[in-house]
Amino acid sequence: MKLVSNILISIILLLLAAFYSQAAVHMDKSNLPRECATCHYKRSFRGGGGAELCITCHGNPQRRSEGKKMPPGSIVPKAYMRNIEAEFQKMYRHPTFDLPGRHVTNEILPEINPKASRHADCVDCHNPHYLSRDNKFAGIMAKKIVNKLAEATKEYELCYRCHGDSANLPGKYTNKRAEFSLNNKSFHPVEGEGKNSTVISLVKPYKEKRVAPEDISIISCSDCHGNDDPNGPKGVHGSRFQYILVDNFNAADNVRESPQEYALCYRCHSRSSILGDESFRYHSLHIQGKSFQQPGTSCFTCHNSHGSPENKYLIKFNTTVVSPNSKGLLKFVEKGSAKFSGECYLSCHGVDHDPKTY
Ligand code: HEC
Ligand code: HEC
Ligand code: HEC
Ligand code: HEC
Ligand code: HEC
Ligand code: HEC
Ligand code: HEC
Repeated sequence: MKLVSNILISIILLLLAAFYSQAAVHMDKSNLPRECATCHYKRSFRGGGGAELCITCHGNPQRRSEGKKMPPGSIVPKAYMRNIEAEFQKMYRHPTFDLPGRHVTNEILPEINPKASRHADCVDCHNPHYLSRDNKFAGIMAKKIVNKLAEATKEYELCYRCHGDSANLPGKYTNKRAEFSLNNKSFHPVEGEGKNSTVISLVKPYKEKRVAPEDISIISCSDCHGNDDPNGPKGVHGSRFQYILVDNFNAADNVRESPQEYALCYRCHSRSSILGDESFRYHSLHIQGKSFQQPGTSCFTCHNSHGSPENKYLIKFNTTVVSPNSKGLLKFVEKGSAKFSGECYLSCHGVDHDPKTY
């Protein structure tokens, strides 16, 4: 009974929204002449038809001409529409097609049940009734404001639905909301401007603080995660680069440094500044290594890509490479802002740091 009345209320609200809203693209008759029936004809409301429904129009153009499971005249030919389906055929992708049929209509995220199955359907990131050209996340409920769910207004709020406080986060992953918290010692500036005012490697237009109108001091998940092809459709659907990154990043140890290995970081941090040891005096020694036989290590060995609750400069040692020193200590001690000076207590490649100072 409750379900039926909920659905009725939703339908009334949607019809009102459809009548008044010019922005919601799927409610616009010139886009979808058959309106609600386009998507709901012979389909249940719960689950909504899955990604298969969406790619009828947003997938391989062939599907548009077939228009399977839709009333005749549902699809207006629009040659410019992008093929999103192809993005999910790339090596690294959201598991939209890999883990189908797990989404439940009106589920509440972040998930509180640790046994719930992980998934990412199109409708988990896009609300088909409300999304618009300007706001592809319109209608996605993401954040709690005093026990009530409110709409996501920032991209990171959308991502935190599944990569933040989810009880079903797989063990190898970390809570991104905690990593980007403005209370941390350091973080990439996604939720707000960063804490370090001397990030001397930054390239234009990136700046620590926004002073001139063209300065960019706040970045988004999408600046790092998304399509590898800058001319392809936008969005963190799939990429040929690992971790669905927009550019290559090698997180491994024993790497021969090249512009390509850390291309992602070098988009915003000048390679010549980093390898010129302008901040950390021993950057080049660690990144490039000592010789051809002893290559260097990744930024990831010392820096977390997102944030560090305990240390400045995004320092968070990768403990699969770095271990405690001969006295059992594993820590970083900084010596004041803009001094480029600190101490490391650790052991790495058999070299005891007890401590090593710079
Ligand atoms: C572009 C495709 C599309 C169109 C057009 C569309 N819907 Fe939906 N609808 C869906 C999908 C997909 C779901 C499942 C959403 C989910 O699981 O999160 C859904 C769910 C629903 C639900 C149940 C869940 C809820 O949101 O409360 C109702 C009721 C509903 N739609 C009514 C309508 C009405 C009325 C219209 C026309 C004004 C309409 N829909 C137009 C795709 C569409
Ligand atoms: C019947 C065809 C059809 C179906 C089914 C459909 N869409 Fe759309 N969608 C469109 C059209 C047409 C537009 C407007 C394109 C334009 O002119 O910019 C659009 C726009 C969008 C946009 C905004 C794109 C942009 O470039 O601004 C998103 C995001 C989107 N749809 C997602 C979805 C999702 C998710 C689903 C499945 C729940 C879905 N669509 C189902 C036809 C469809
Ligand atoms: C400055 C670039 C950058 C930004 C901004 C960024 N990421 Fe990442 N992200 C990376 C890199 C590099 C990796 C791979 C190395 C690693 O695991 O940290 C990664 C890995 C991940 C992973 C998979 C591995 C893991 O640690 O769980 C997830 C999930 C992720 N990021 C989500 C996010 C979300 C959500 C946001 C925004 C709230 C975000 N990222 C913002 C660079 C970034
Ligand atoms: C994990 C979240 C997520 C999932 C799952 C997802 N999308 Fe997206 N999508 C995004 C983001 C982020 C954007 C970029 C929005 C922006 O900033 O312009 C986007 C953009 C789009 C666009 C606009 C592309 C452009 O070039 O402007 C379309 C169309 C779209 N998505 C359709 C889909 C369809 C269809 C599916 C399922 C097959 C899907 N998305 C699944 C997050 C997602
Ligand atoms: C509805 C849930 C959902 C949302 C929302 C979502 N993701 Fe995911 N994401 C997943 C799932 C499920 C995986 C597969 C791995 C896992 O279970 O965490 C994944 C994987 C990833 C990975 C690859 C991890 C790896 O192992 O390489 C990255 C990066 C990522 N997501 C970033 C994002 C970003 C950025 C956003 C926001 C724009 C976002 N996600 C929104 C569910 C989601
Ligand atoms: C051996 C550990 C280590 C490795 C590997 C490493 N860094 Fe650092 N990095 C540091 C330390 C320590 C600092 C802090 C210097 C200070 O006291 O200000 C730092 C500072 C920075 C800063 C802030 C100051 C500036 O130069 O703008 C950036 C950016 C940076 N590193 C980027 C990188 C990138 C990119 C890589 C990989 C190509 C990398 N680091 C590899 C240890 C490392
Ligand atoms: C889209 C641009 C962008 C990319 C890509 C990027 N960064 Fe940054 N990074 C910034 C900005 C902006 C700041 C300045 C934040 C501040 O002032 O505290 C910053 C700051 C830093 C800092 C210093 C943080 C602190 O609080 O001291 C380090 C270390 C760093 N980045 C490392 C990396 C590494 C490693 C990568 C590659 C995985 C990377 N960055 C990729 C934009 C970027």
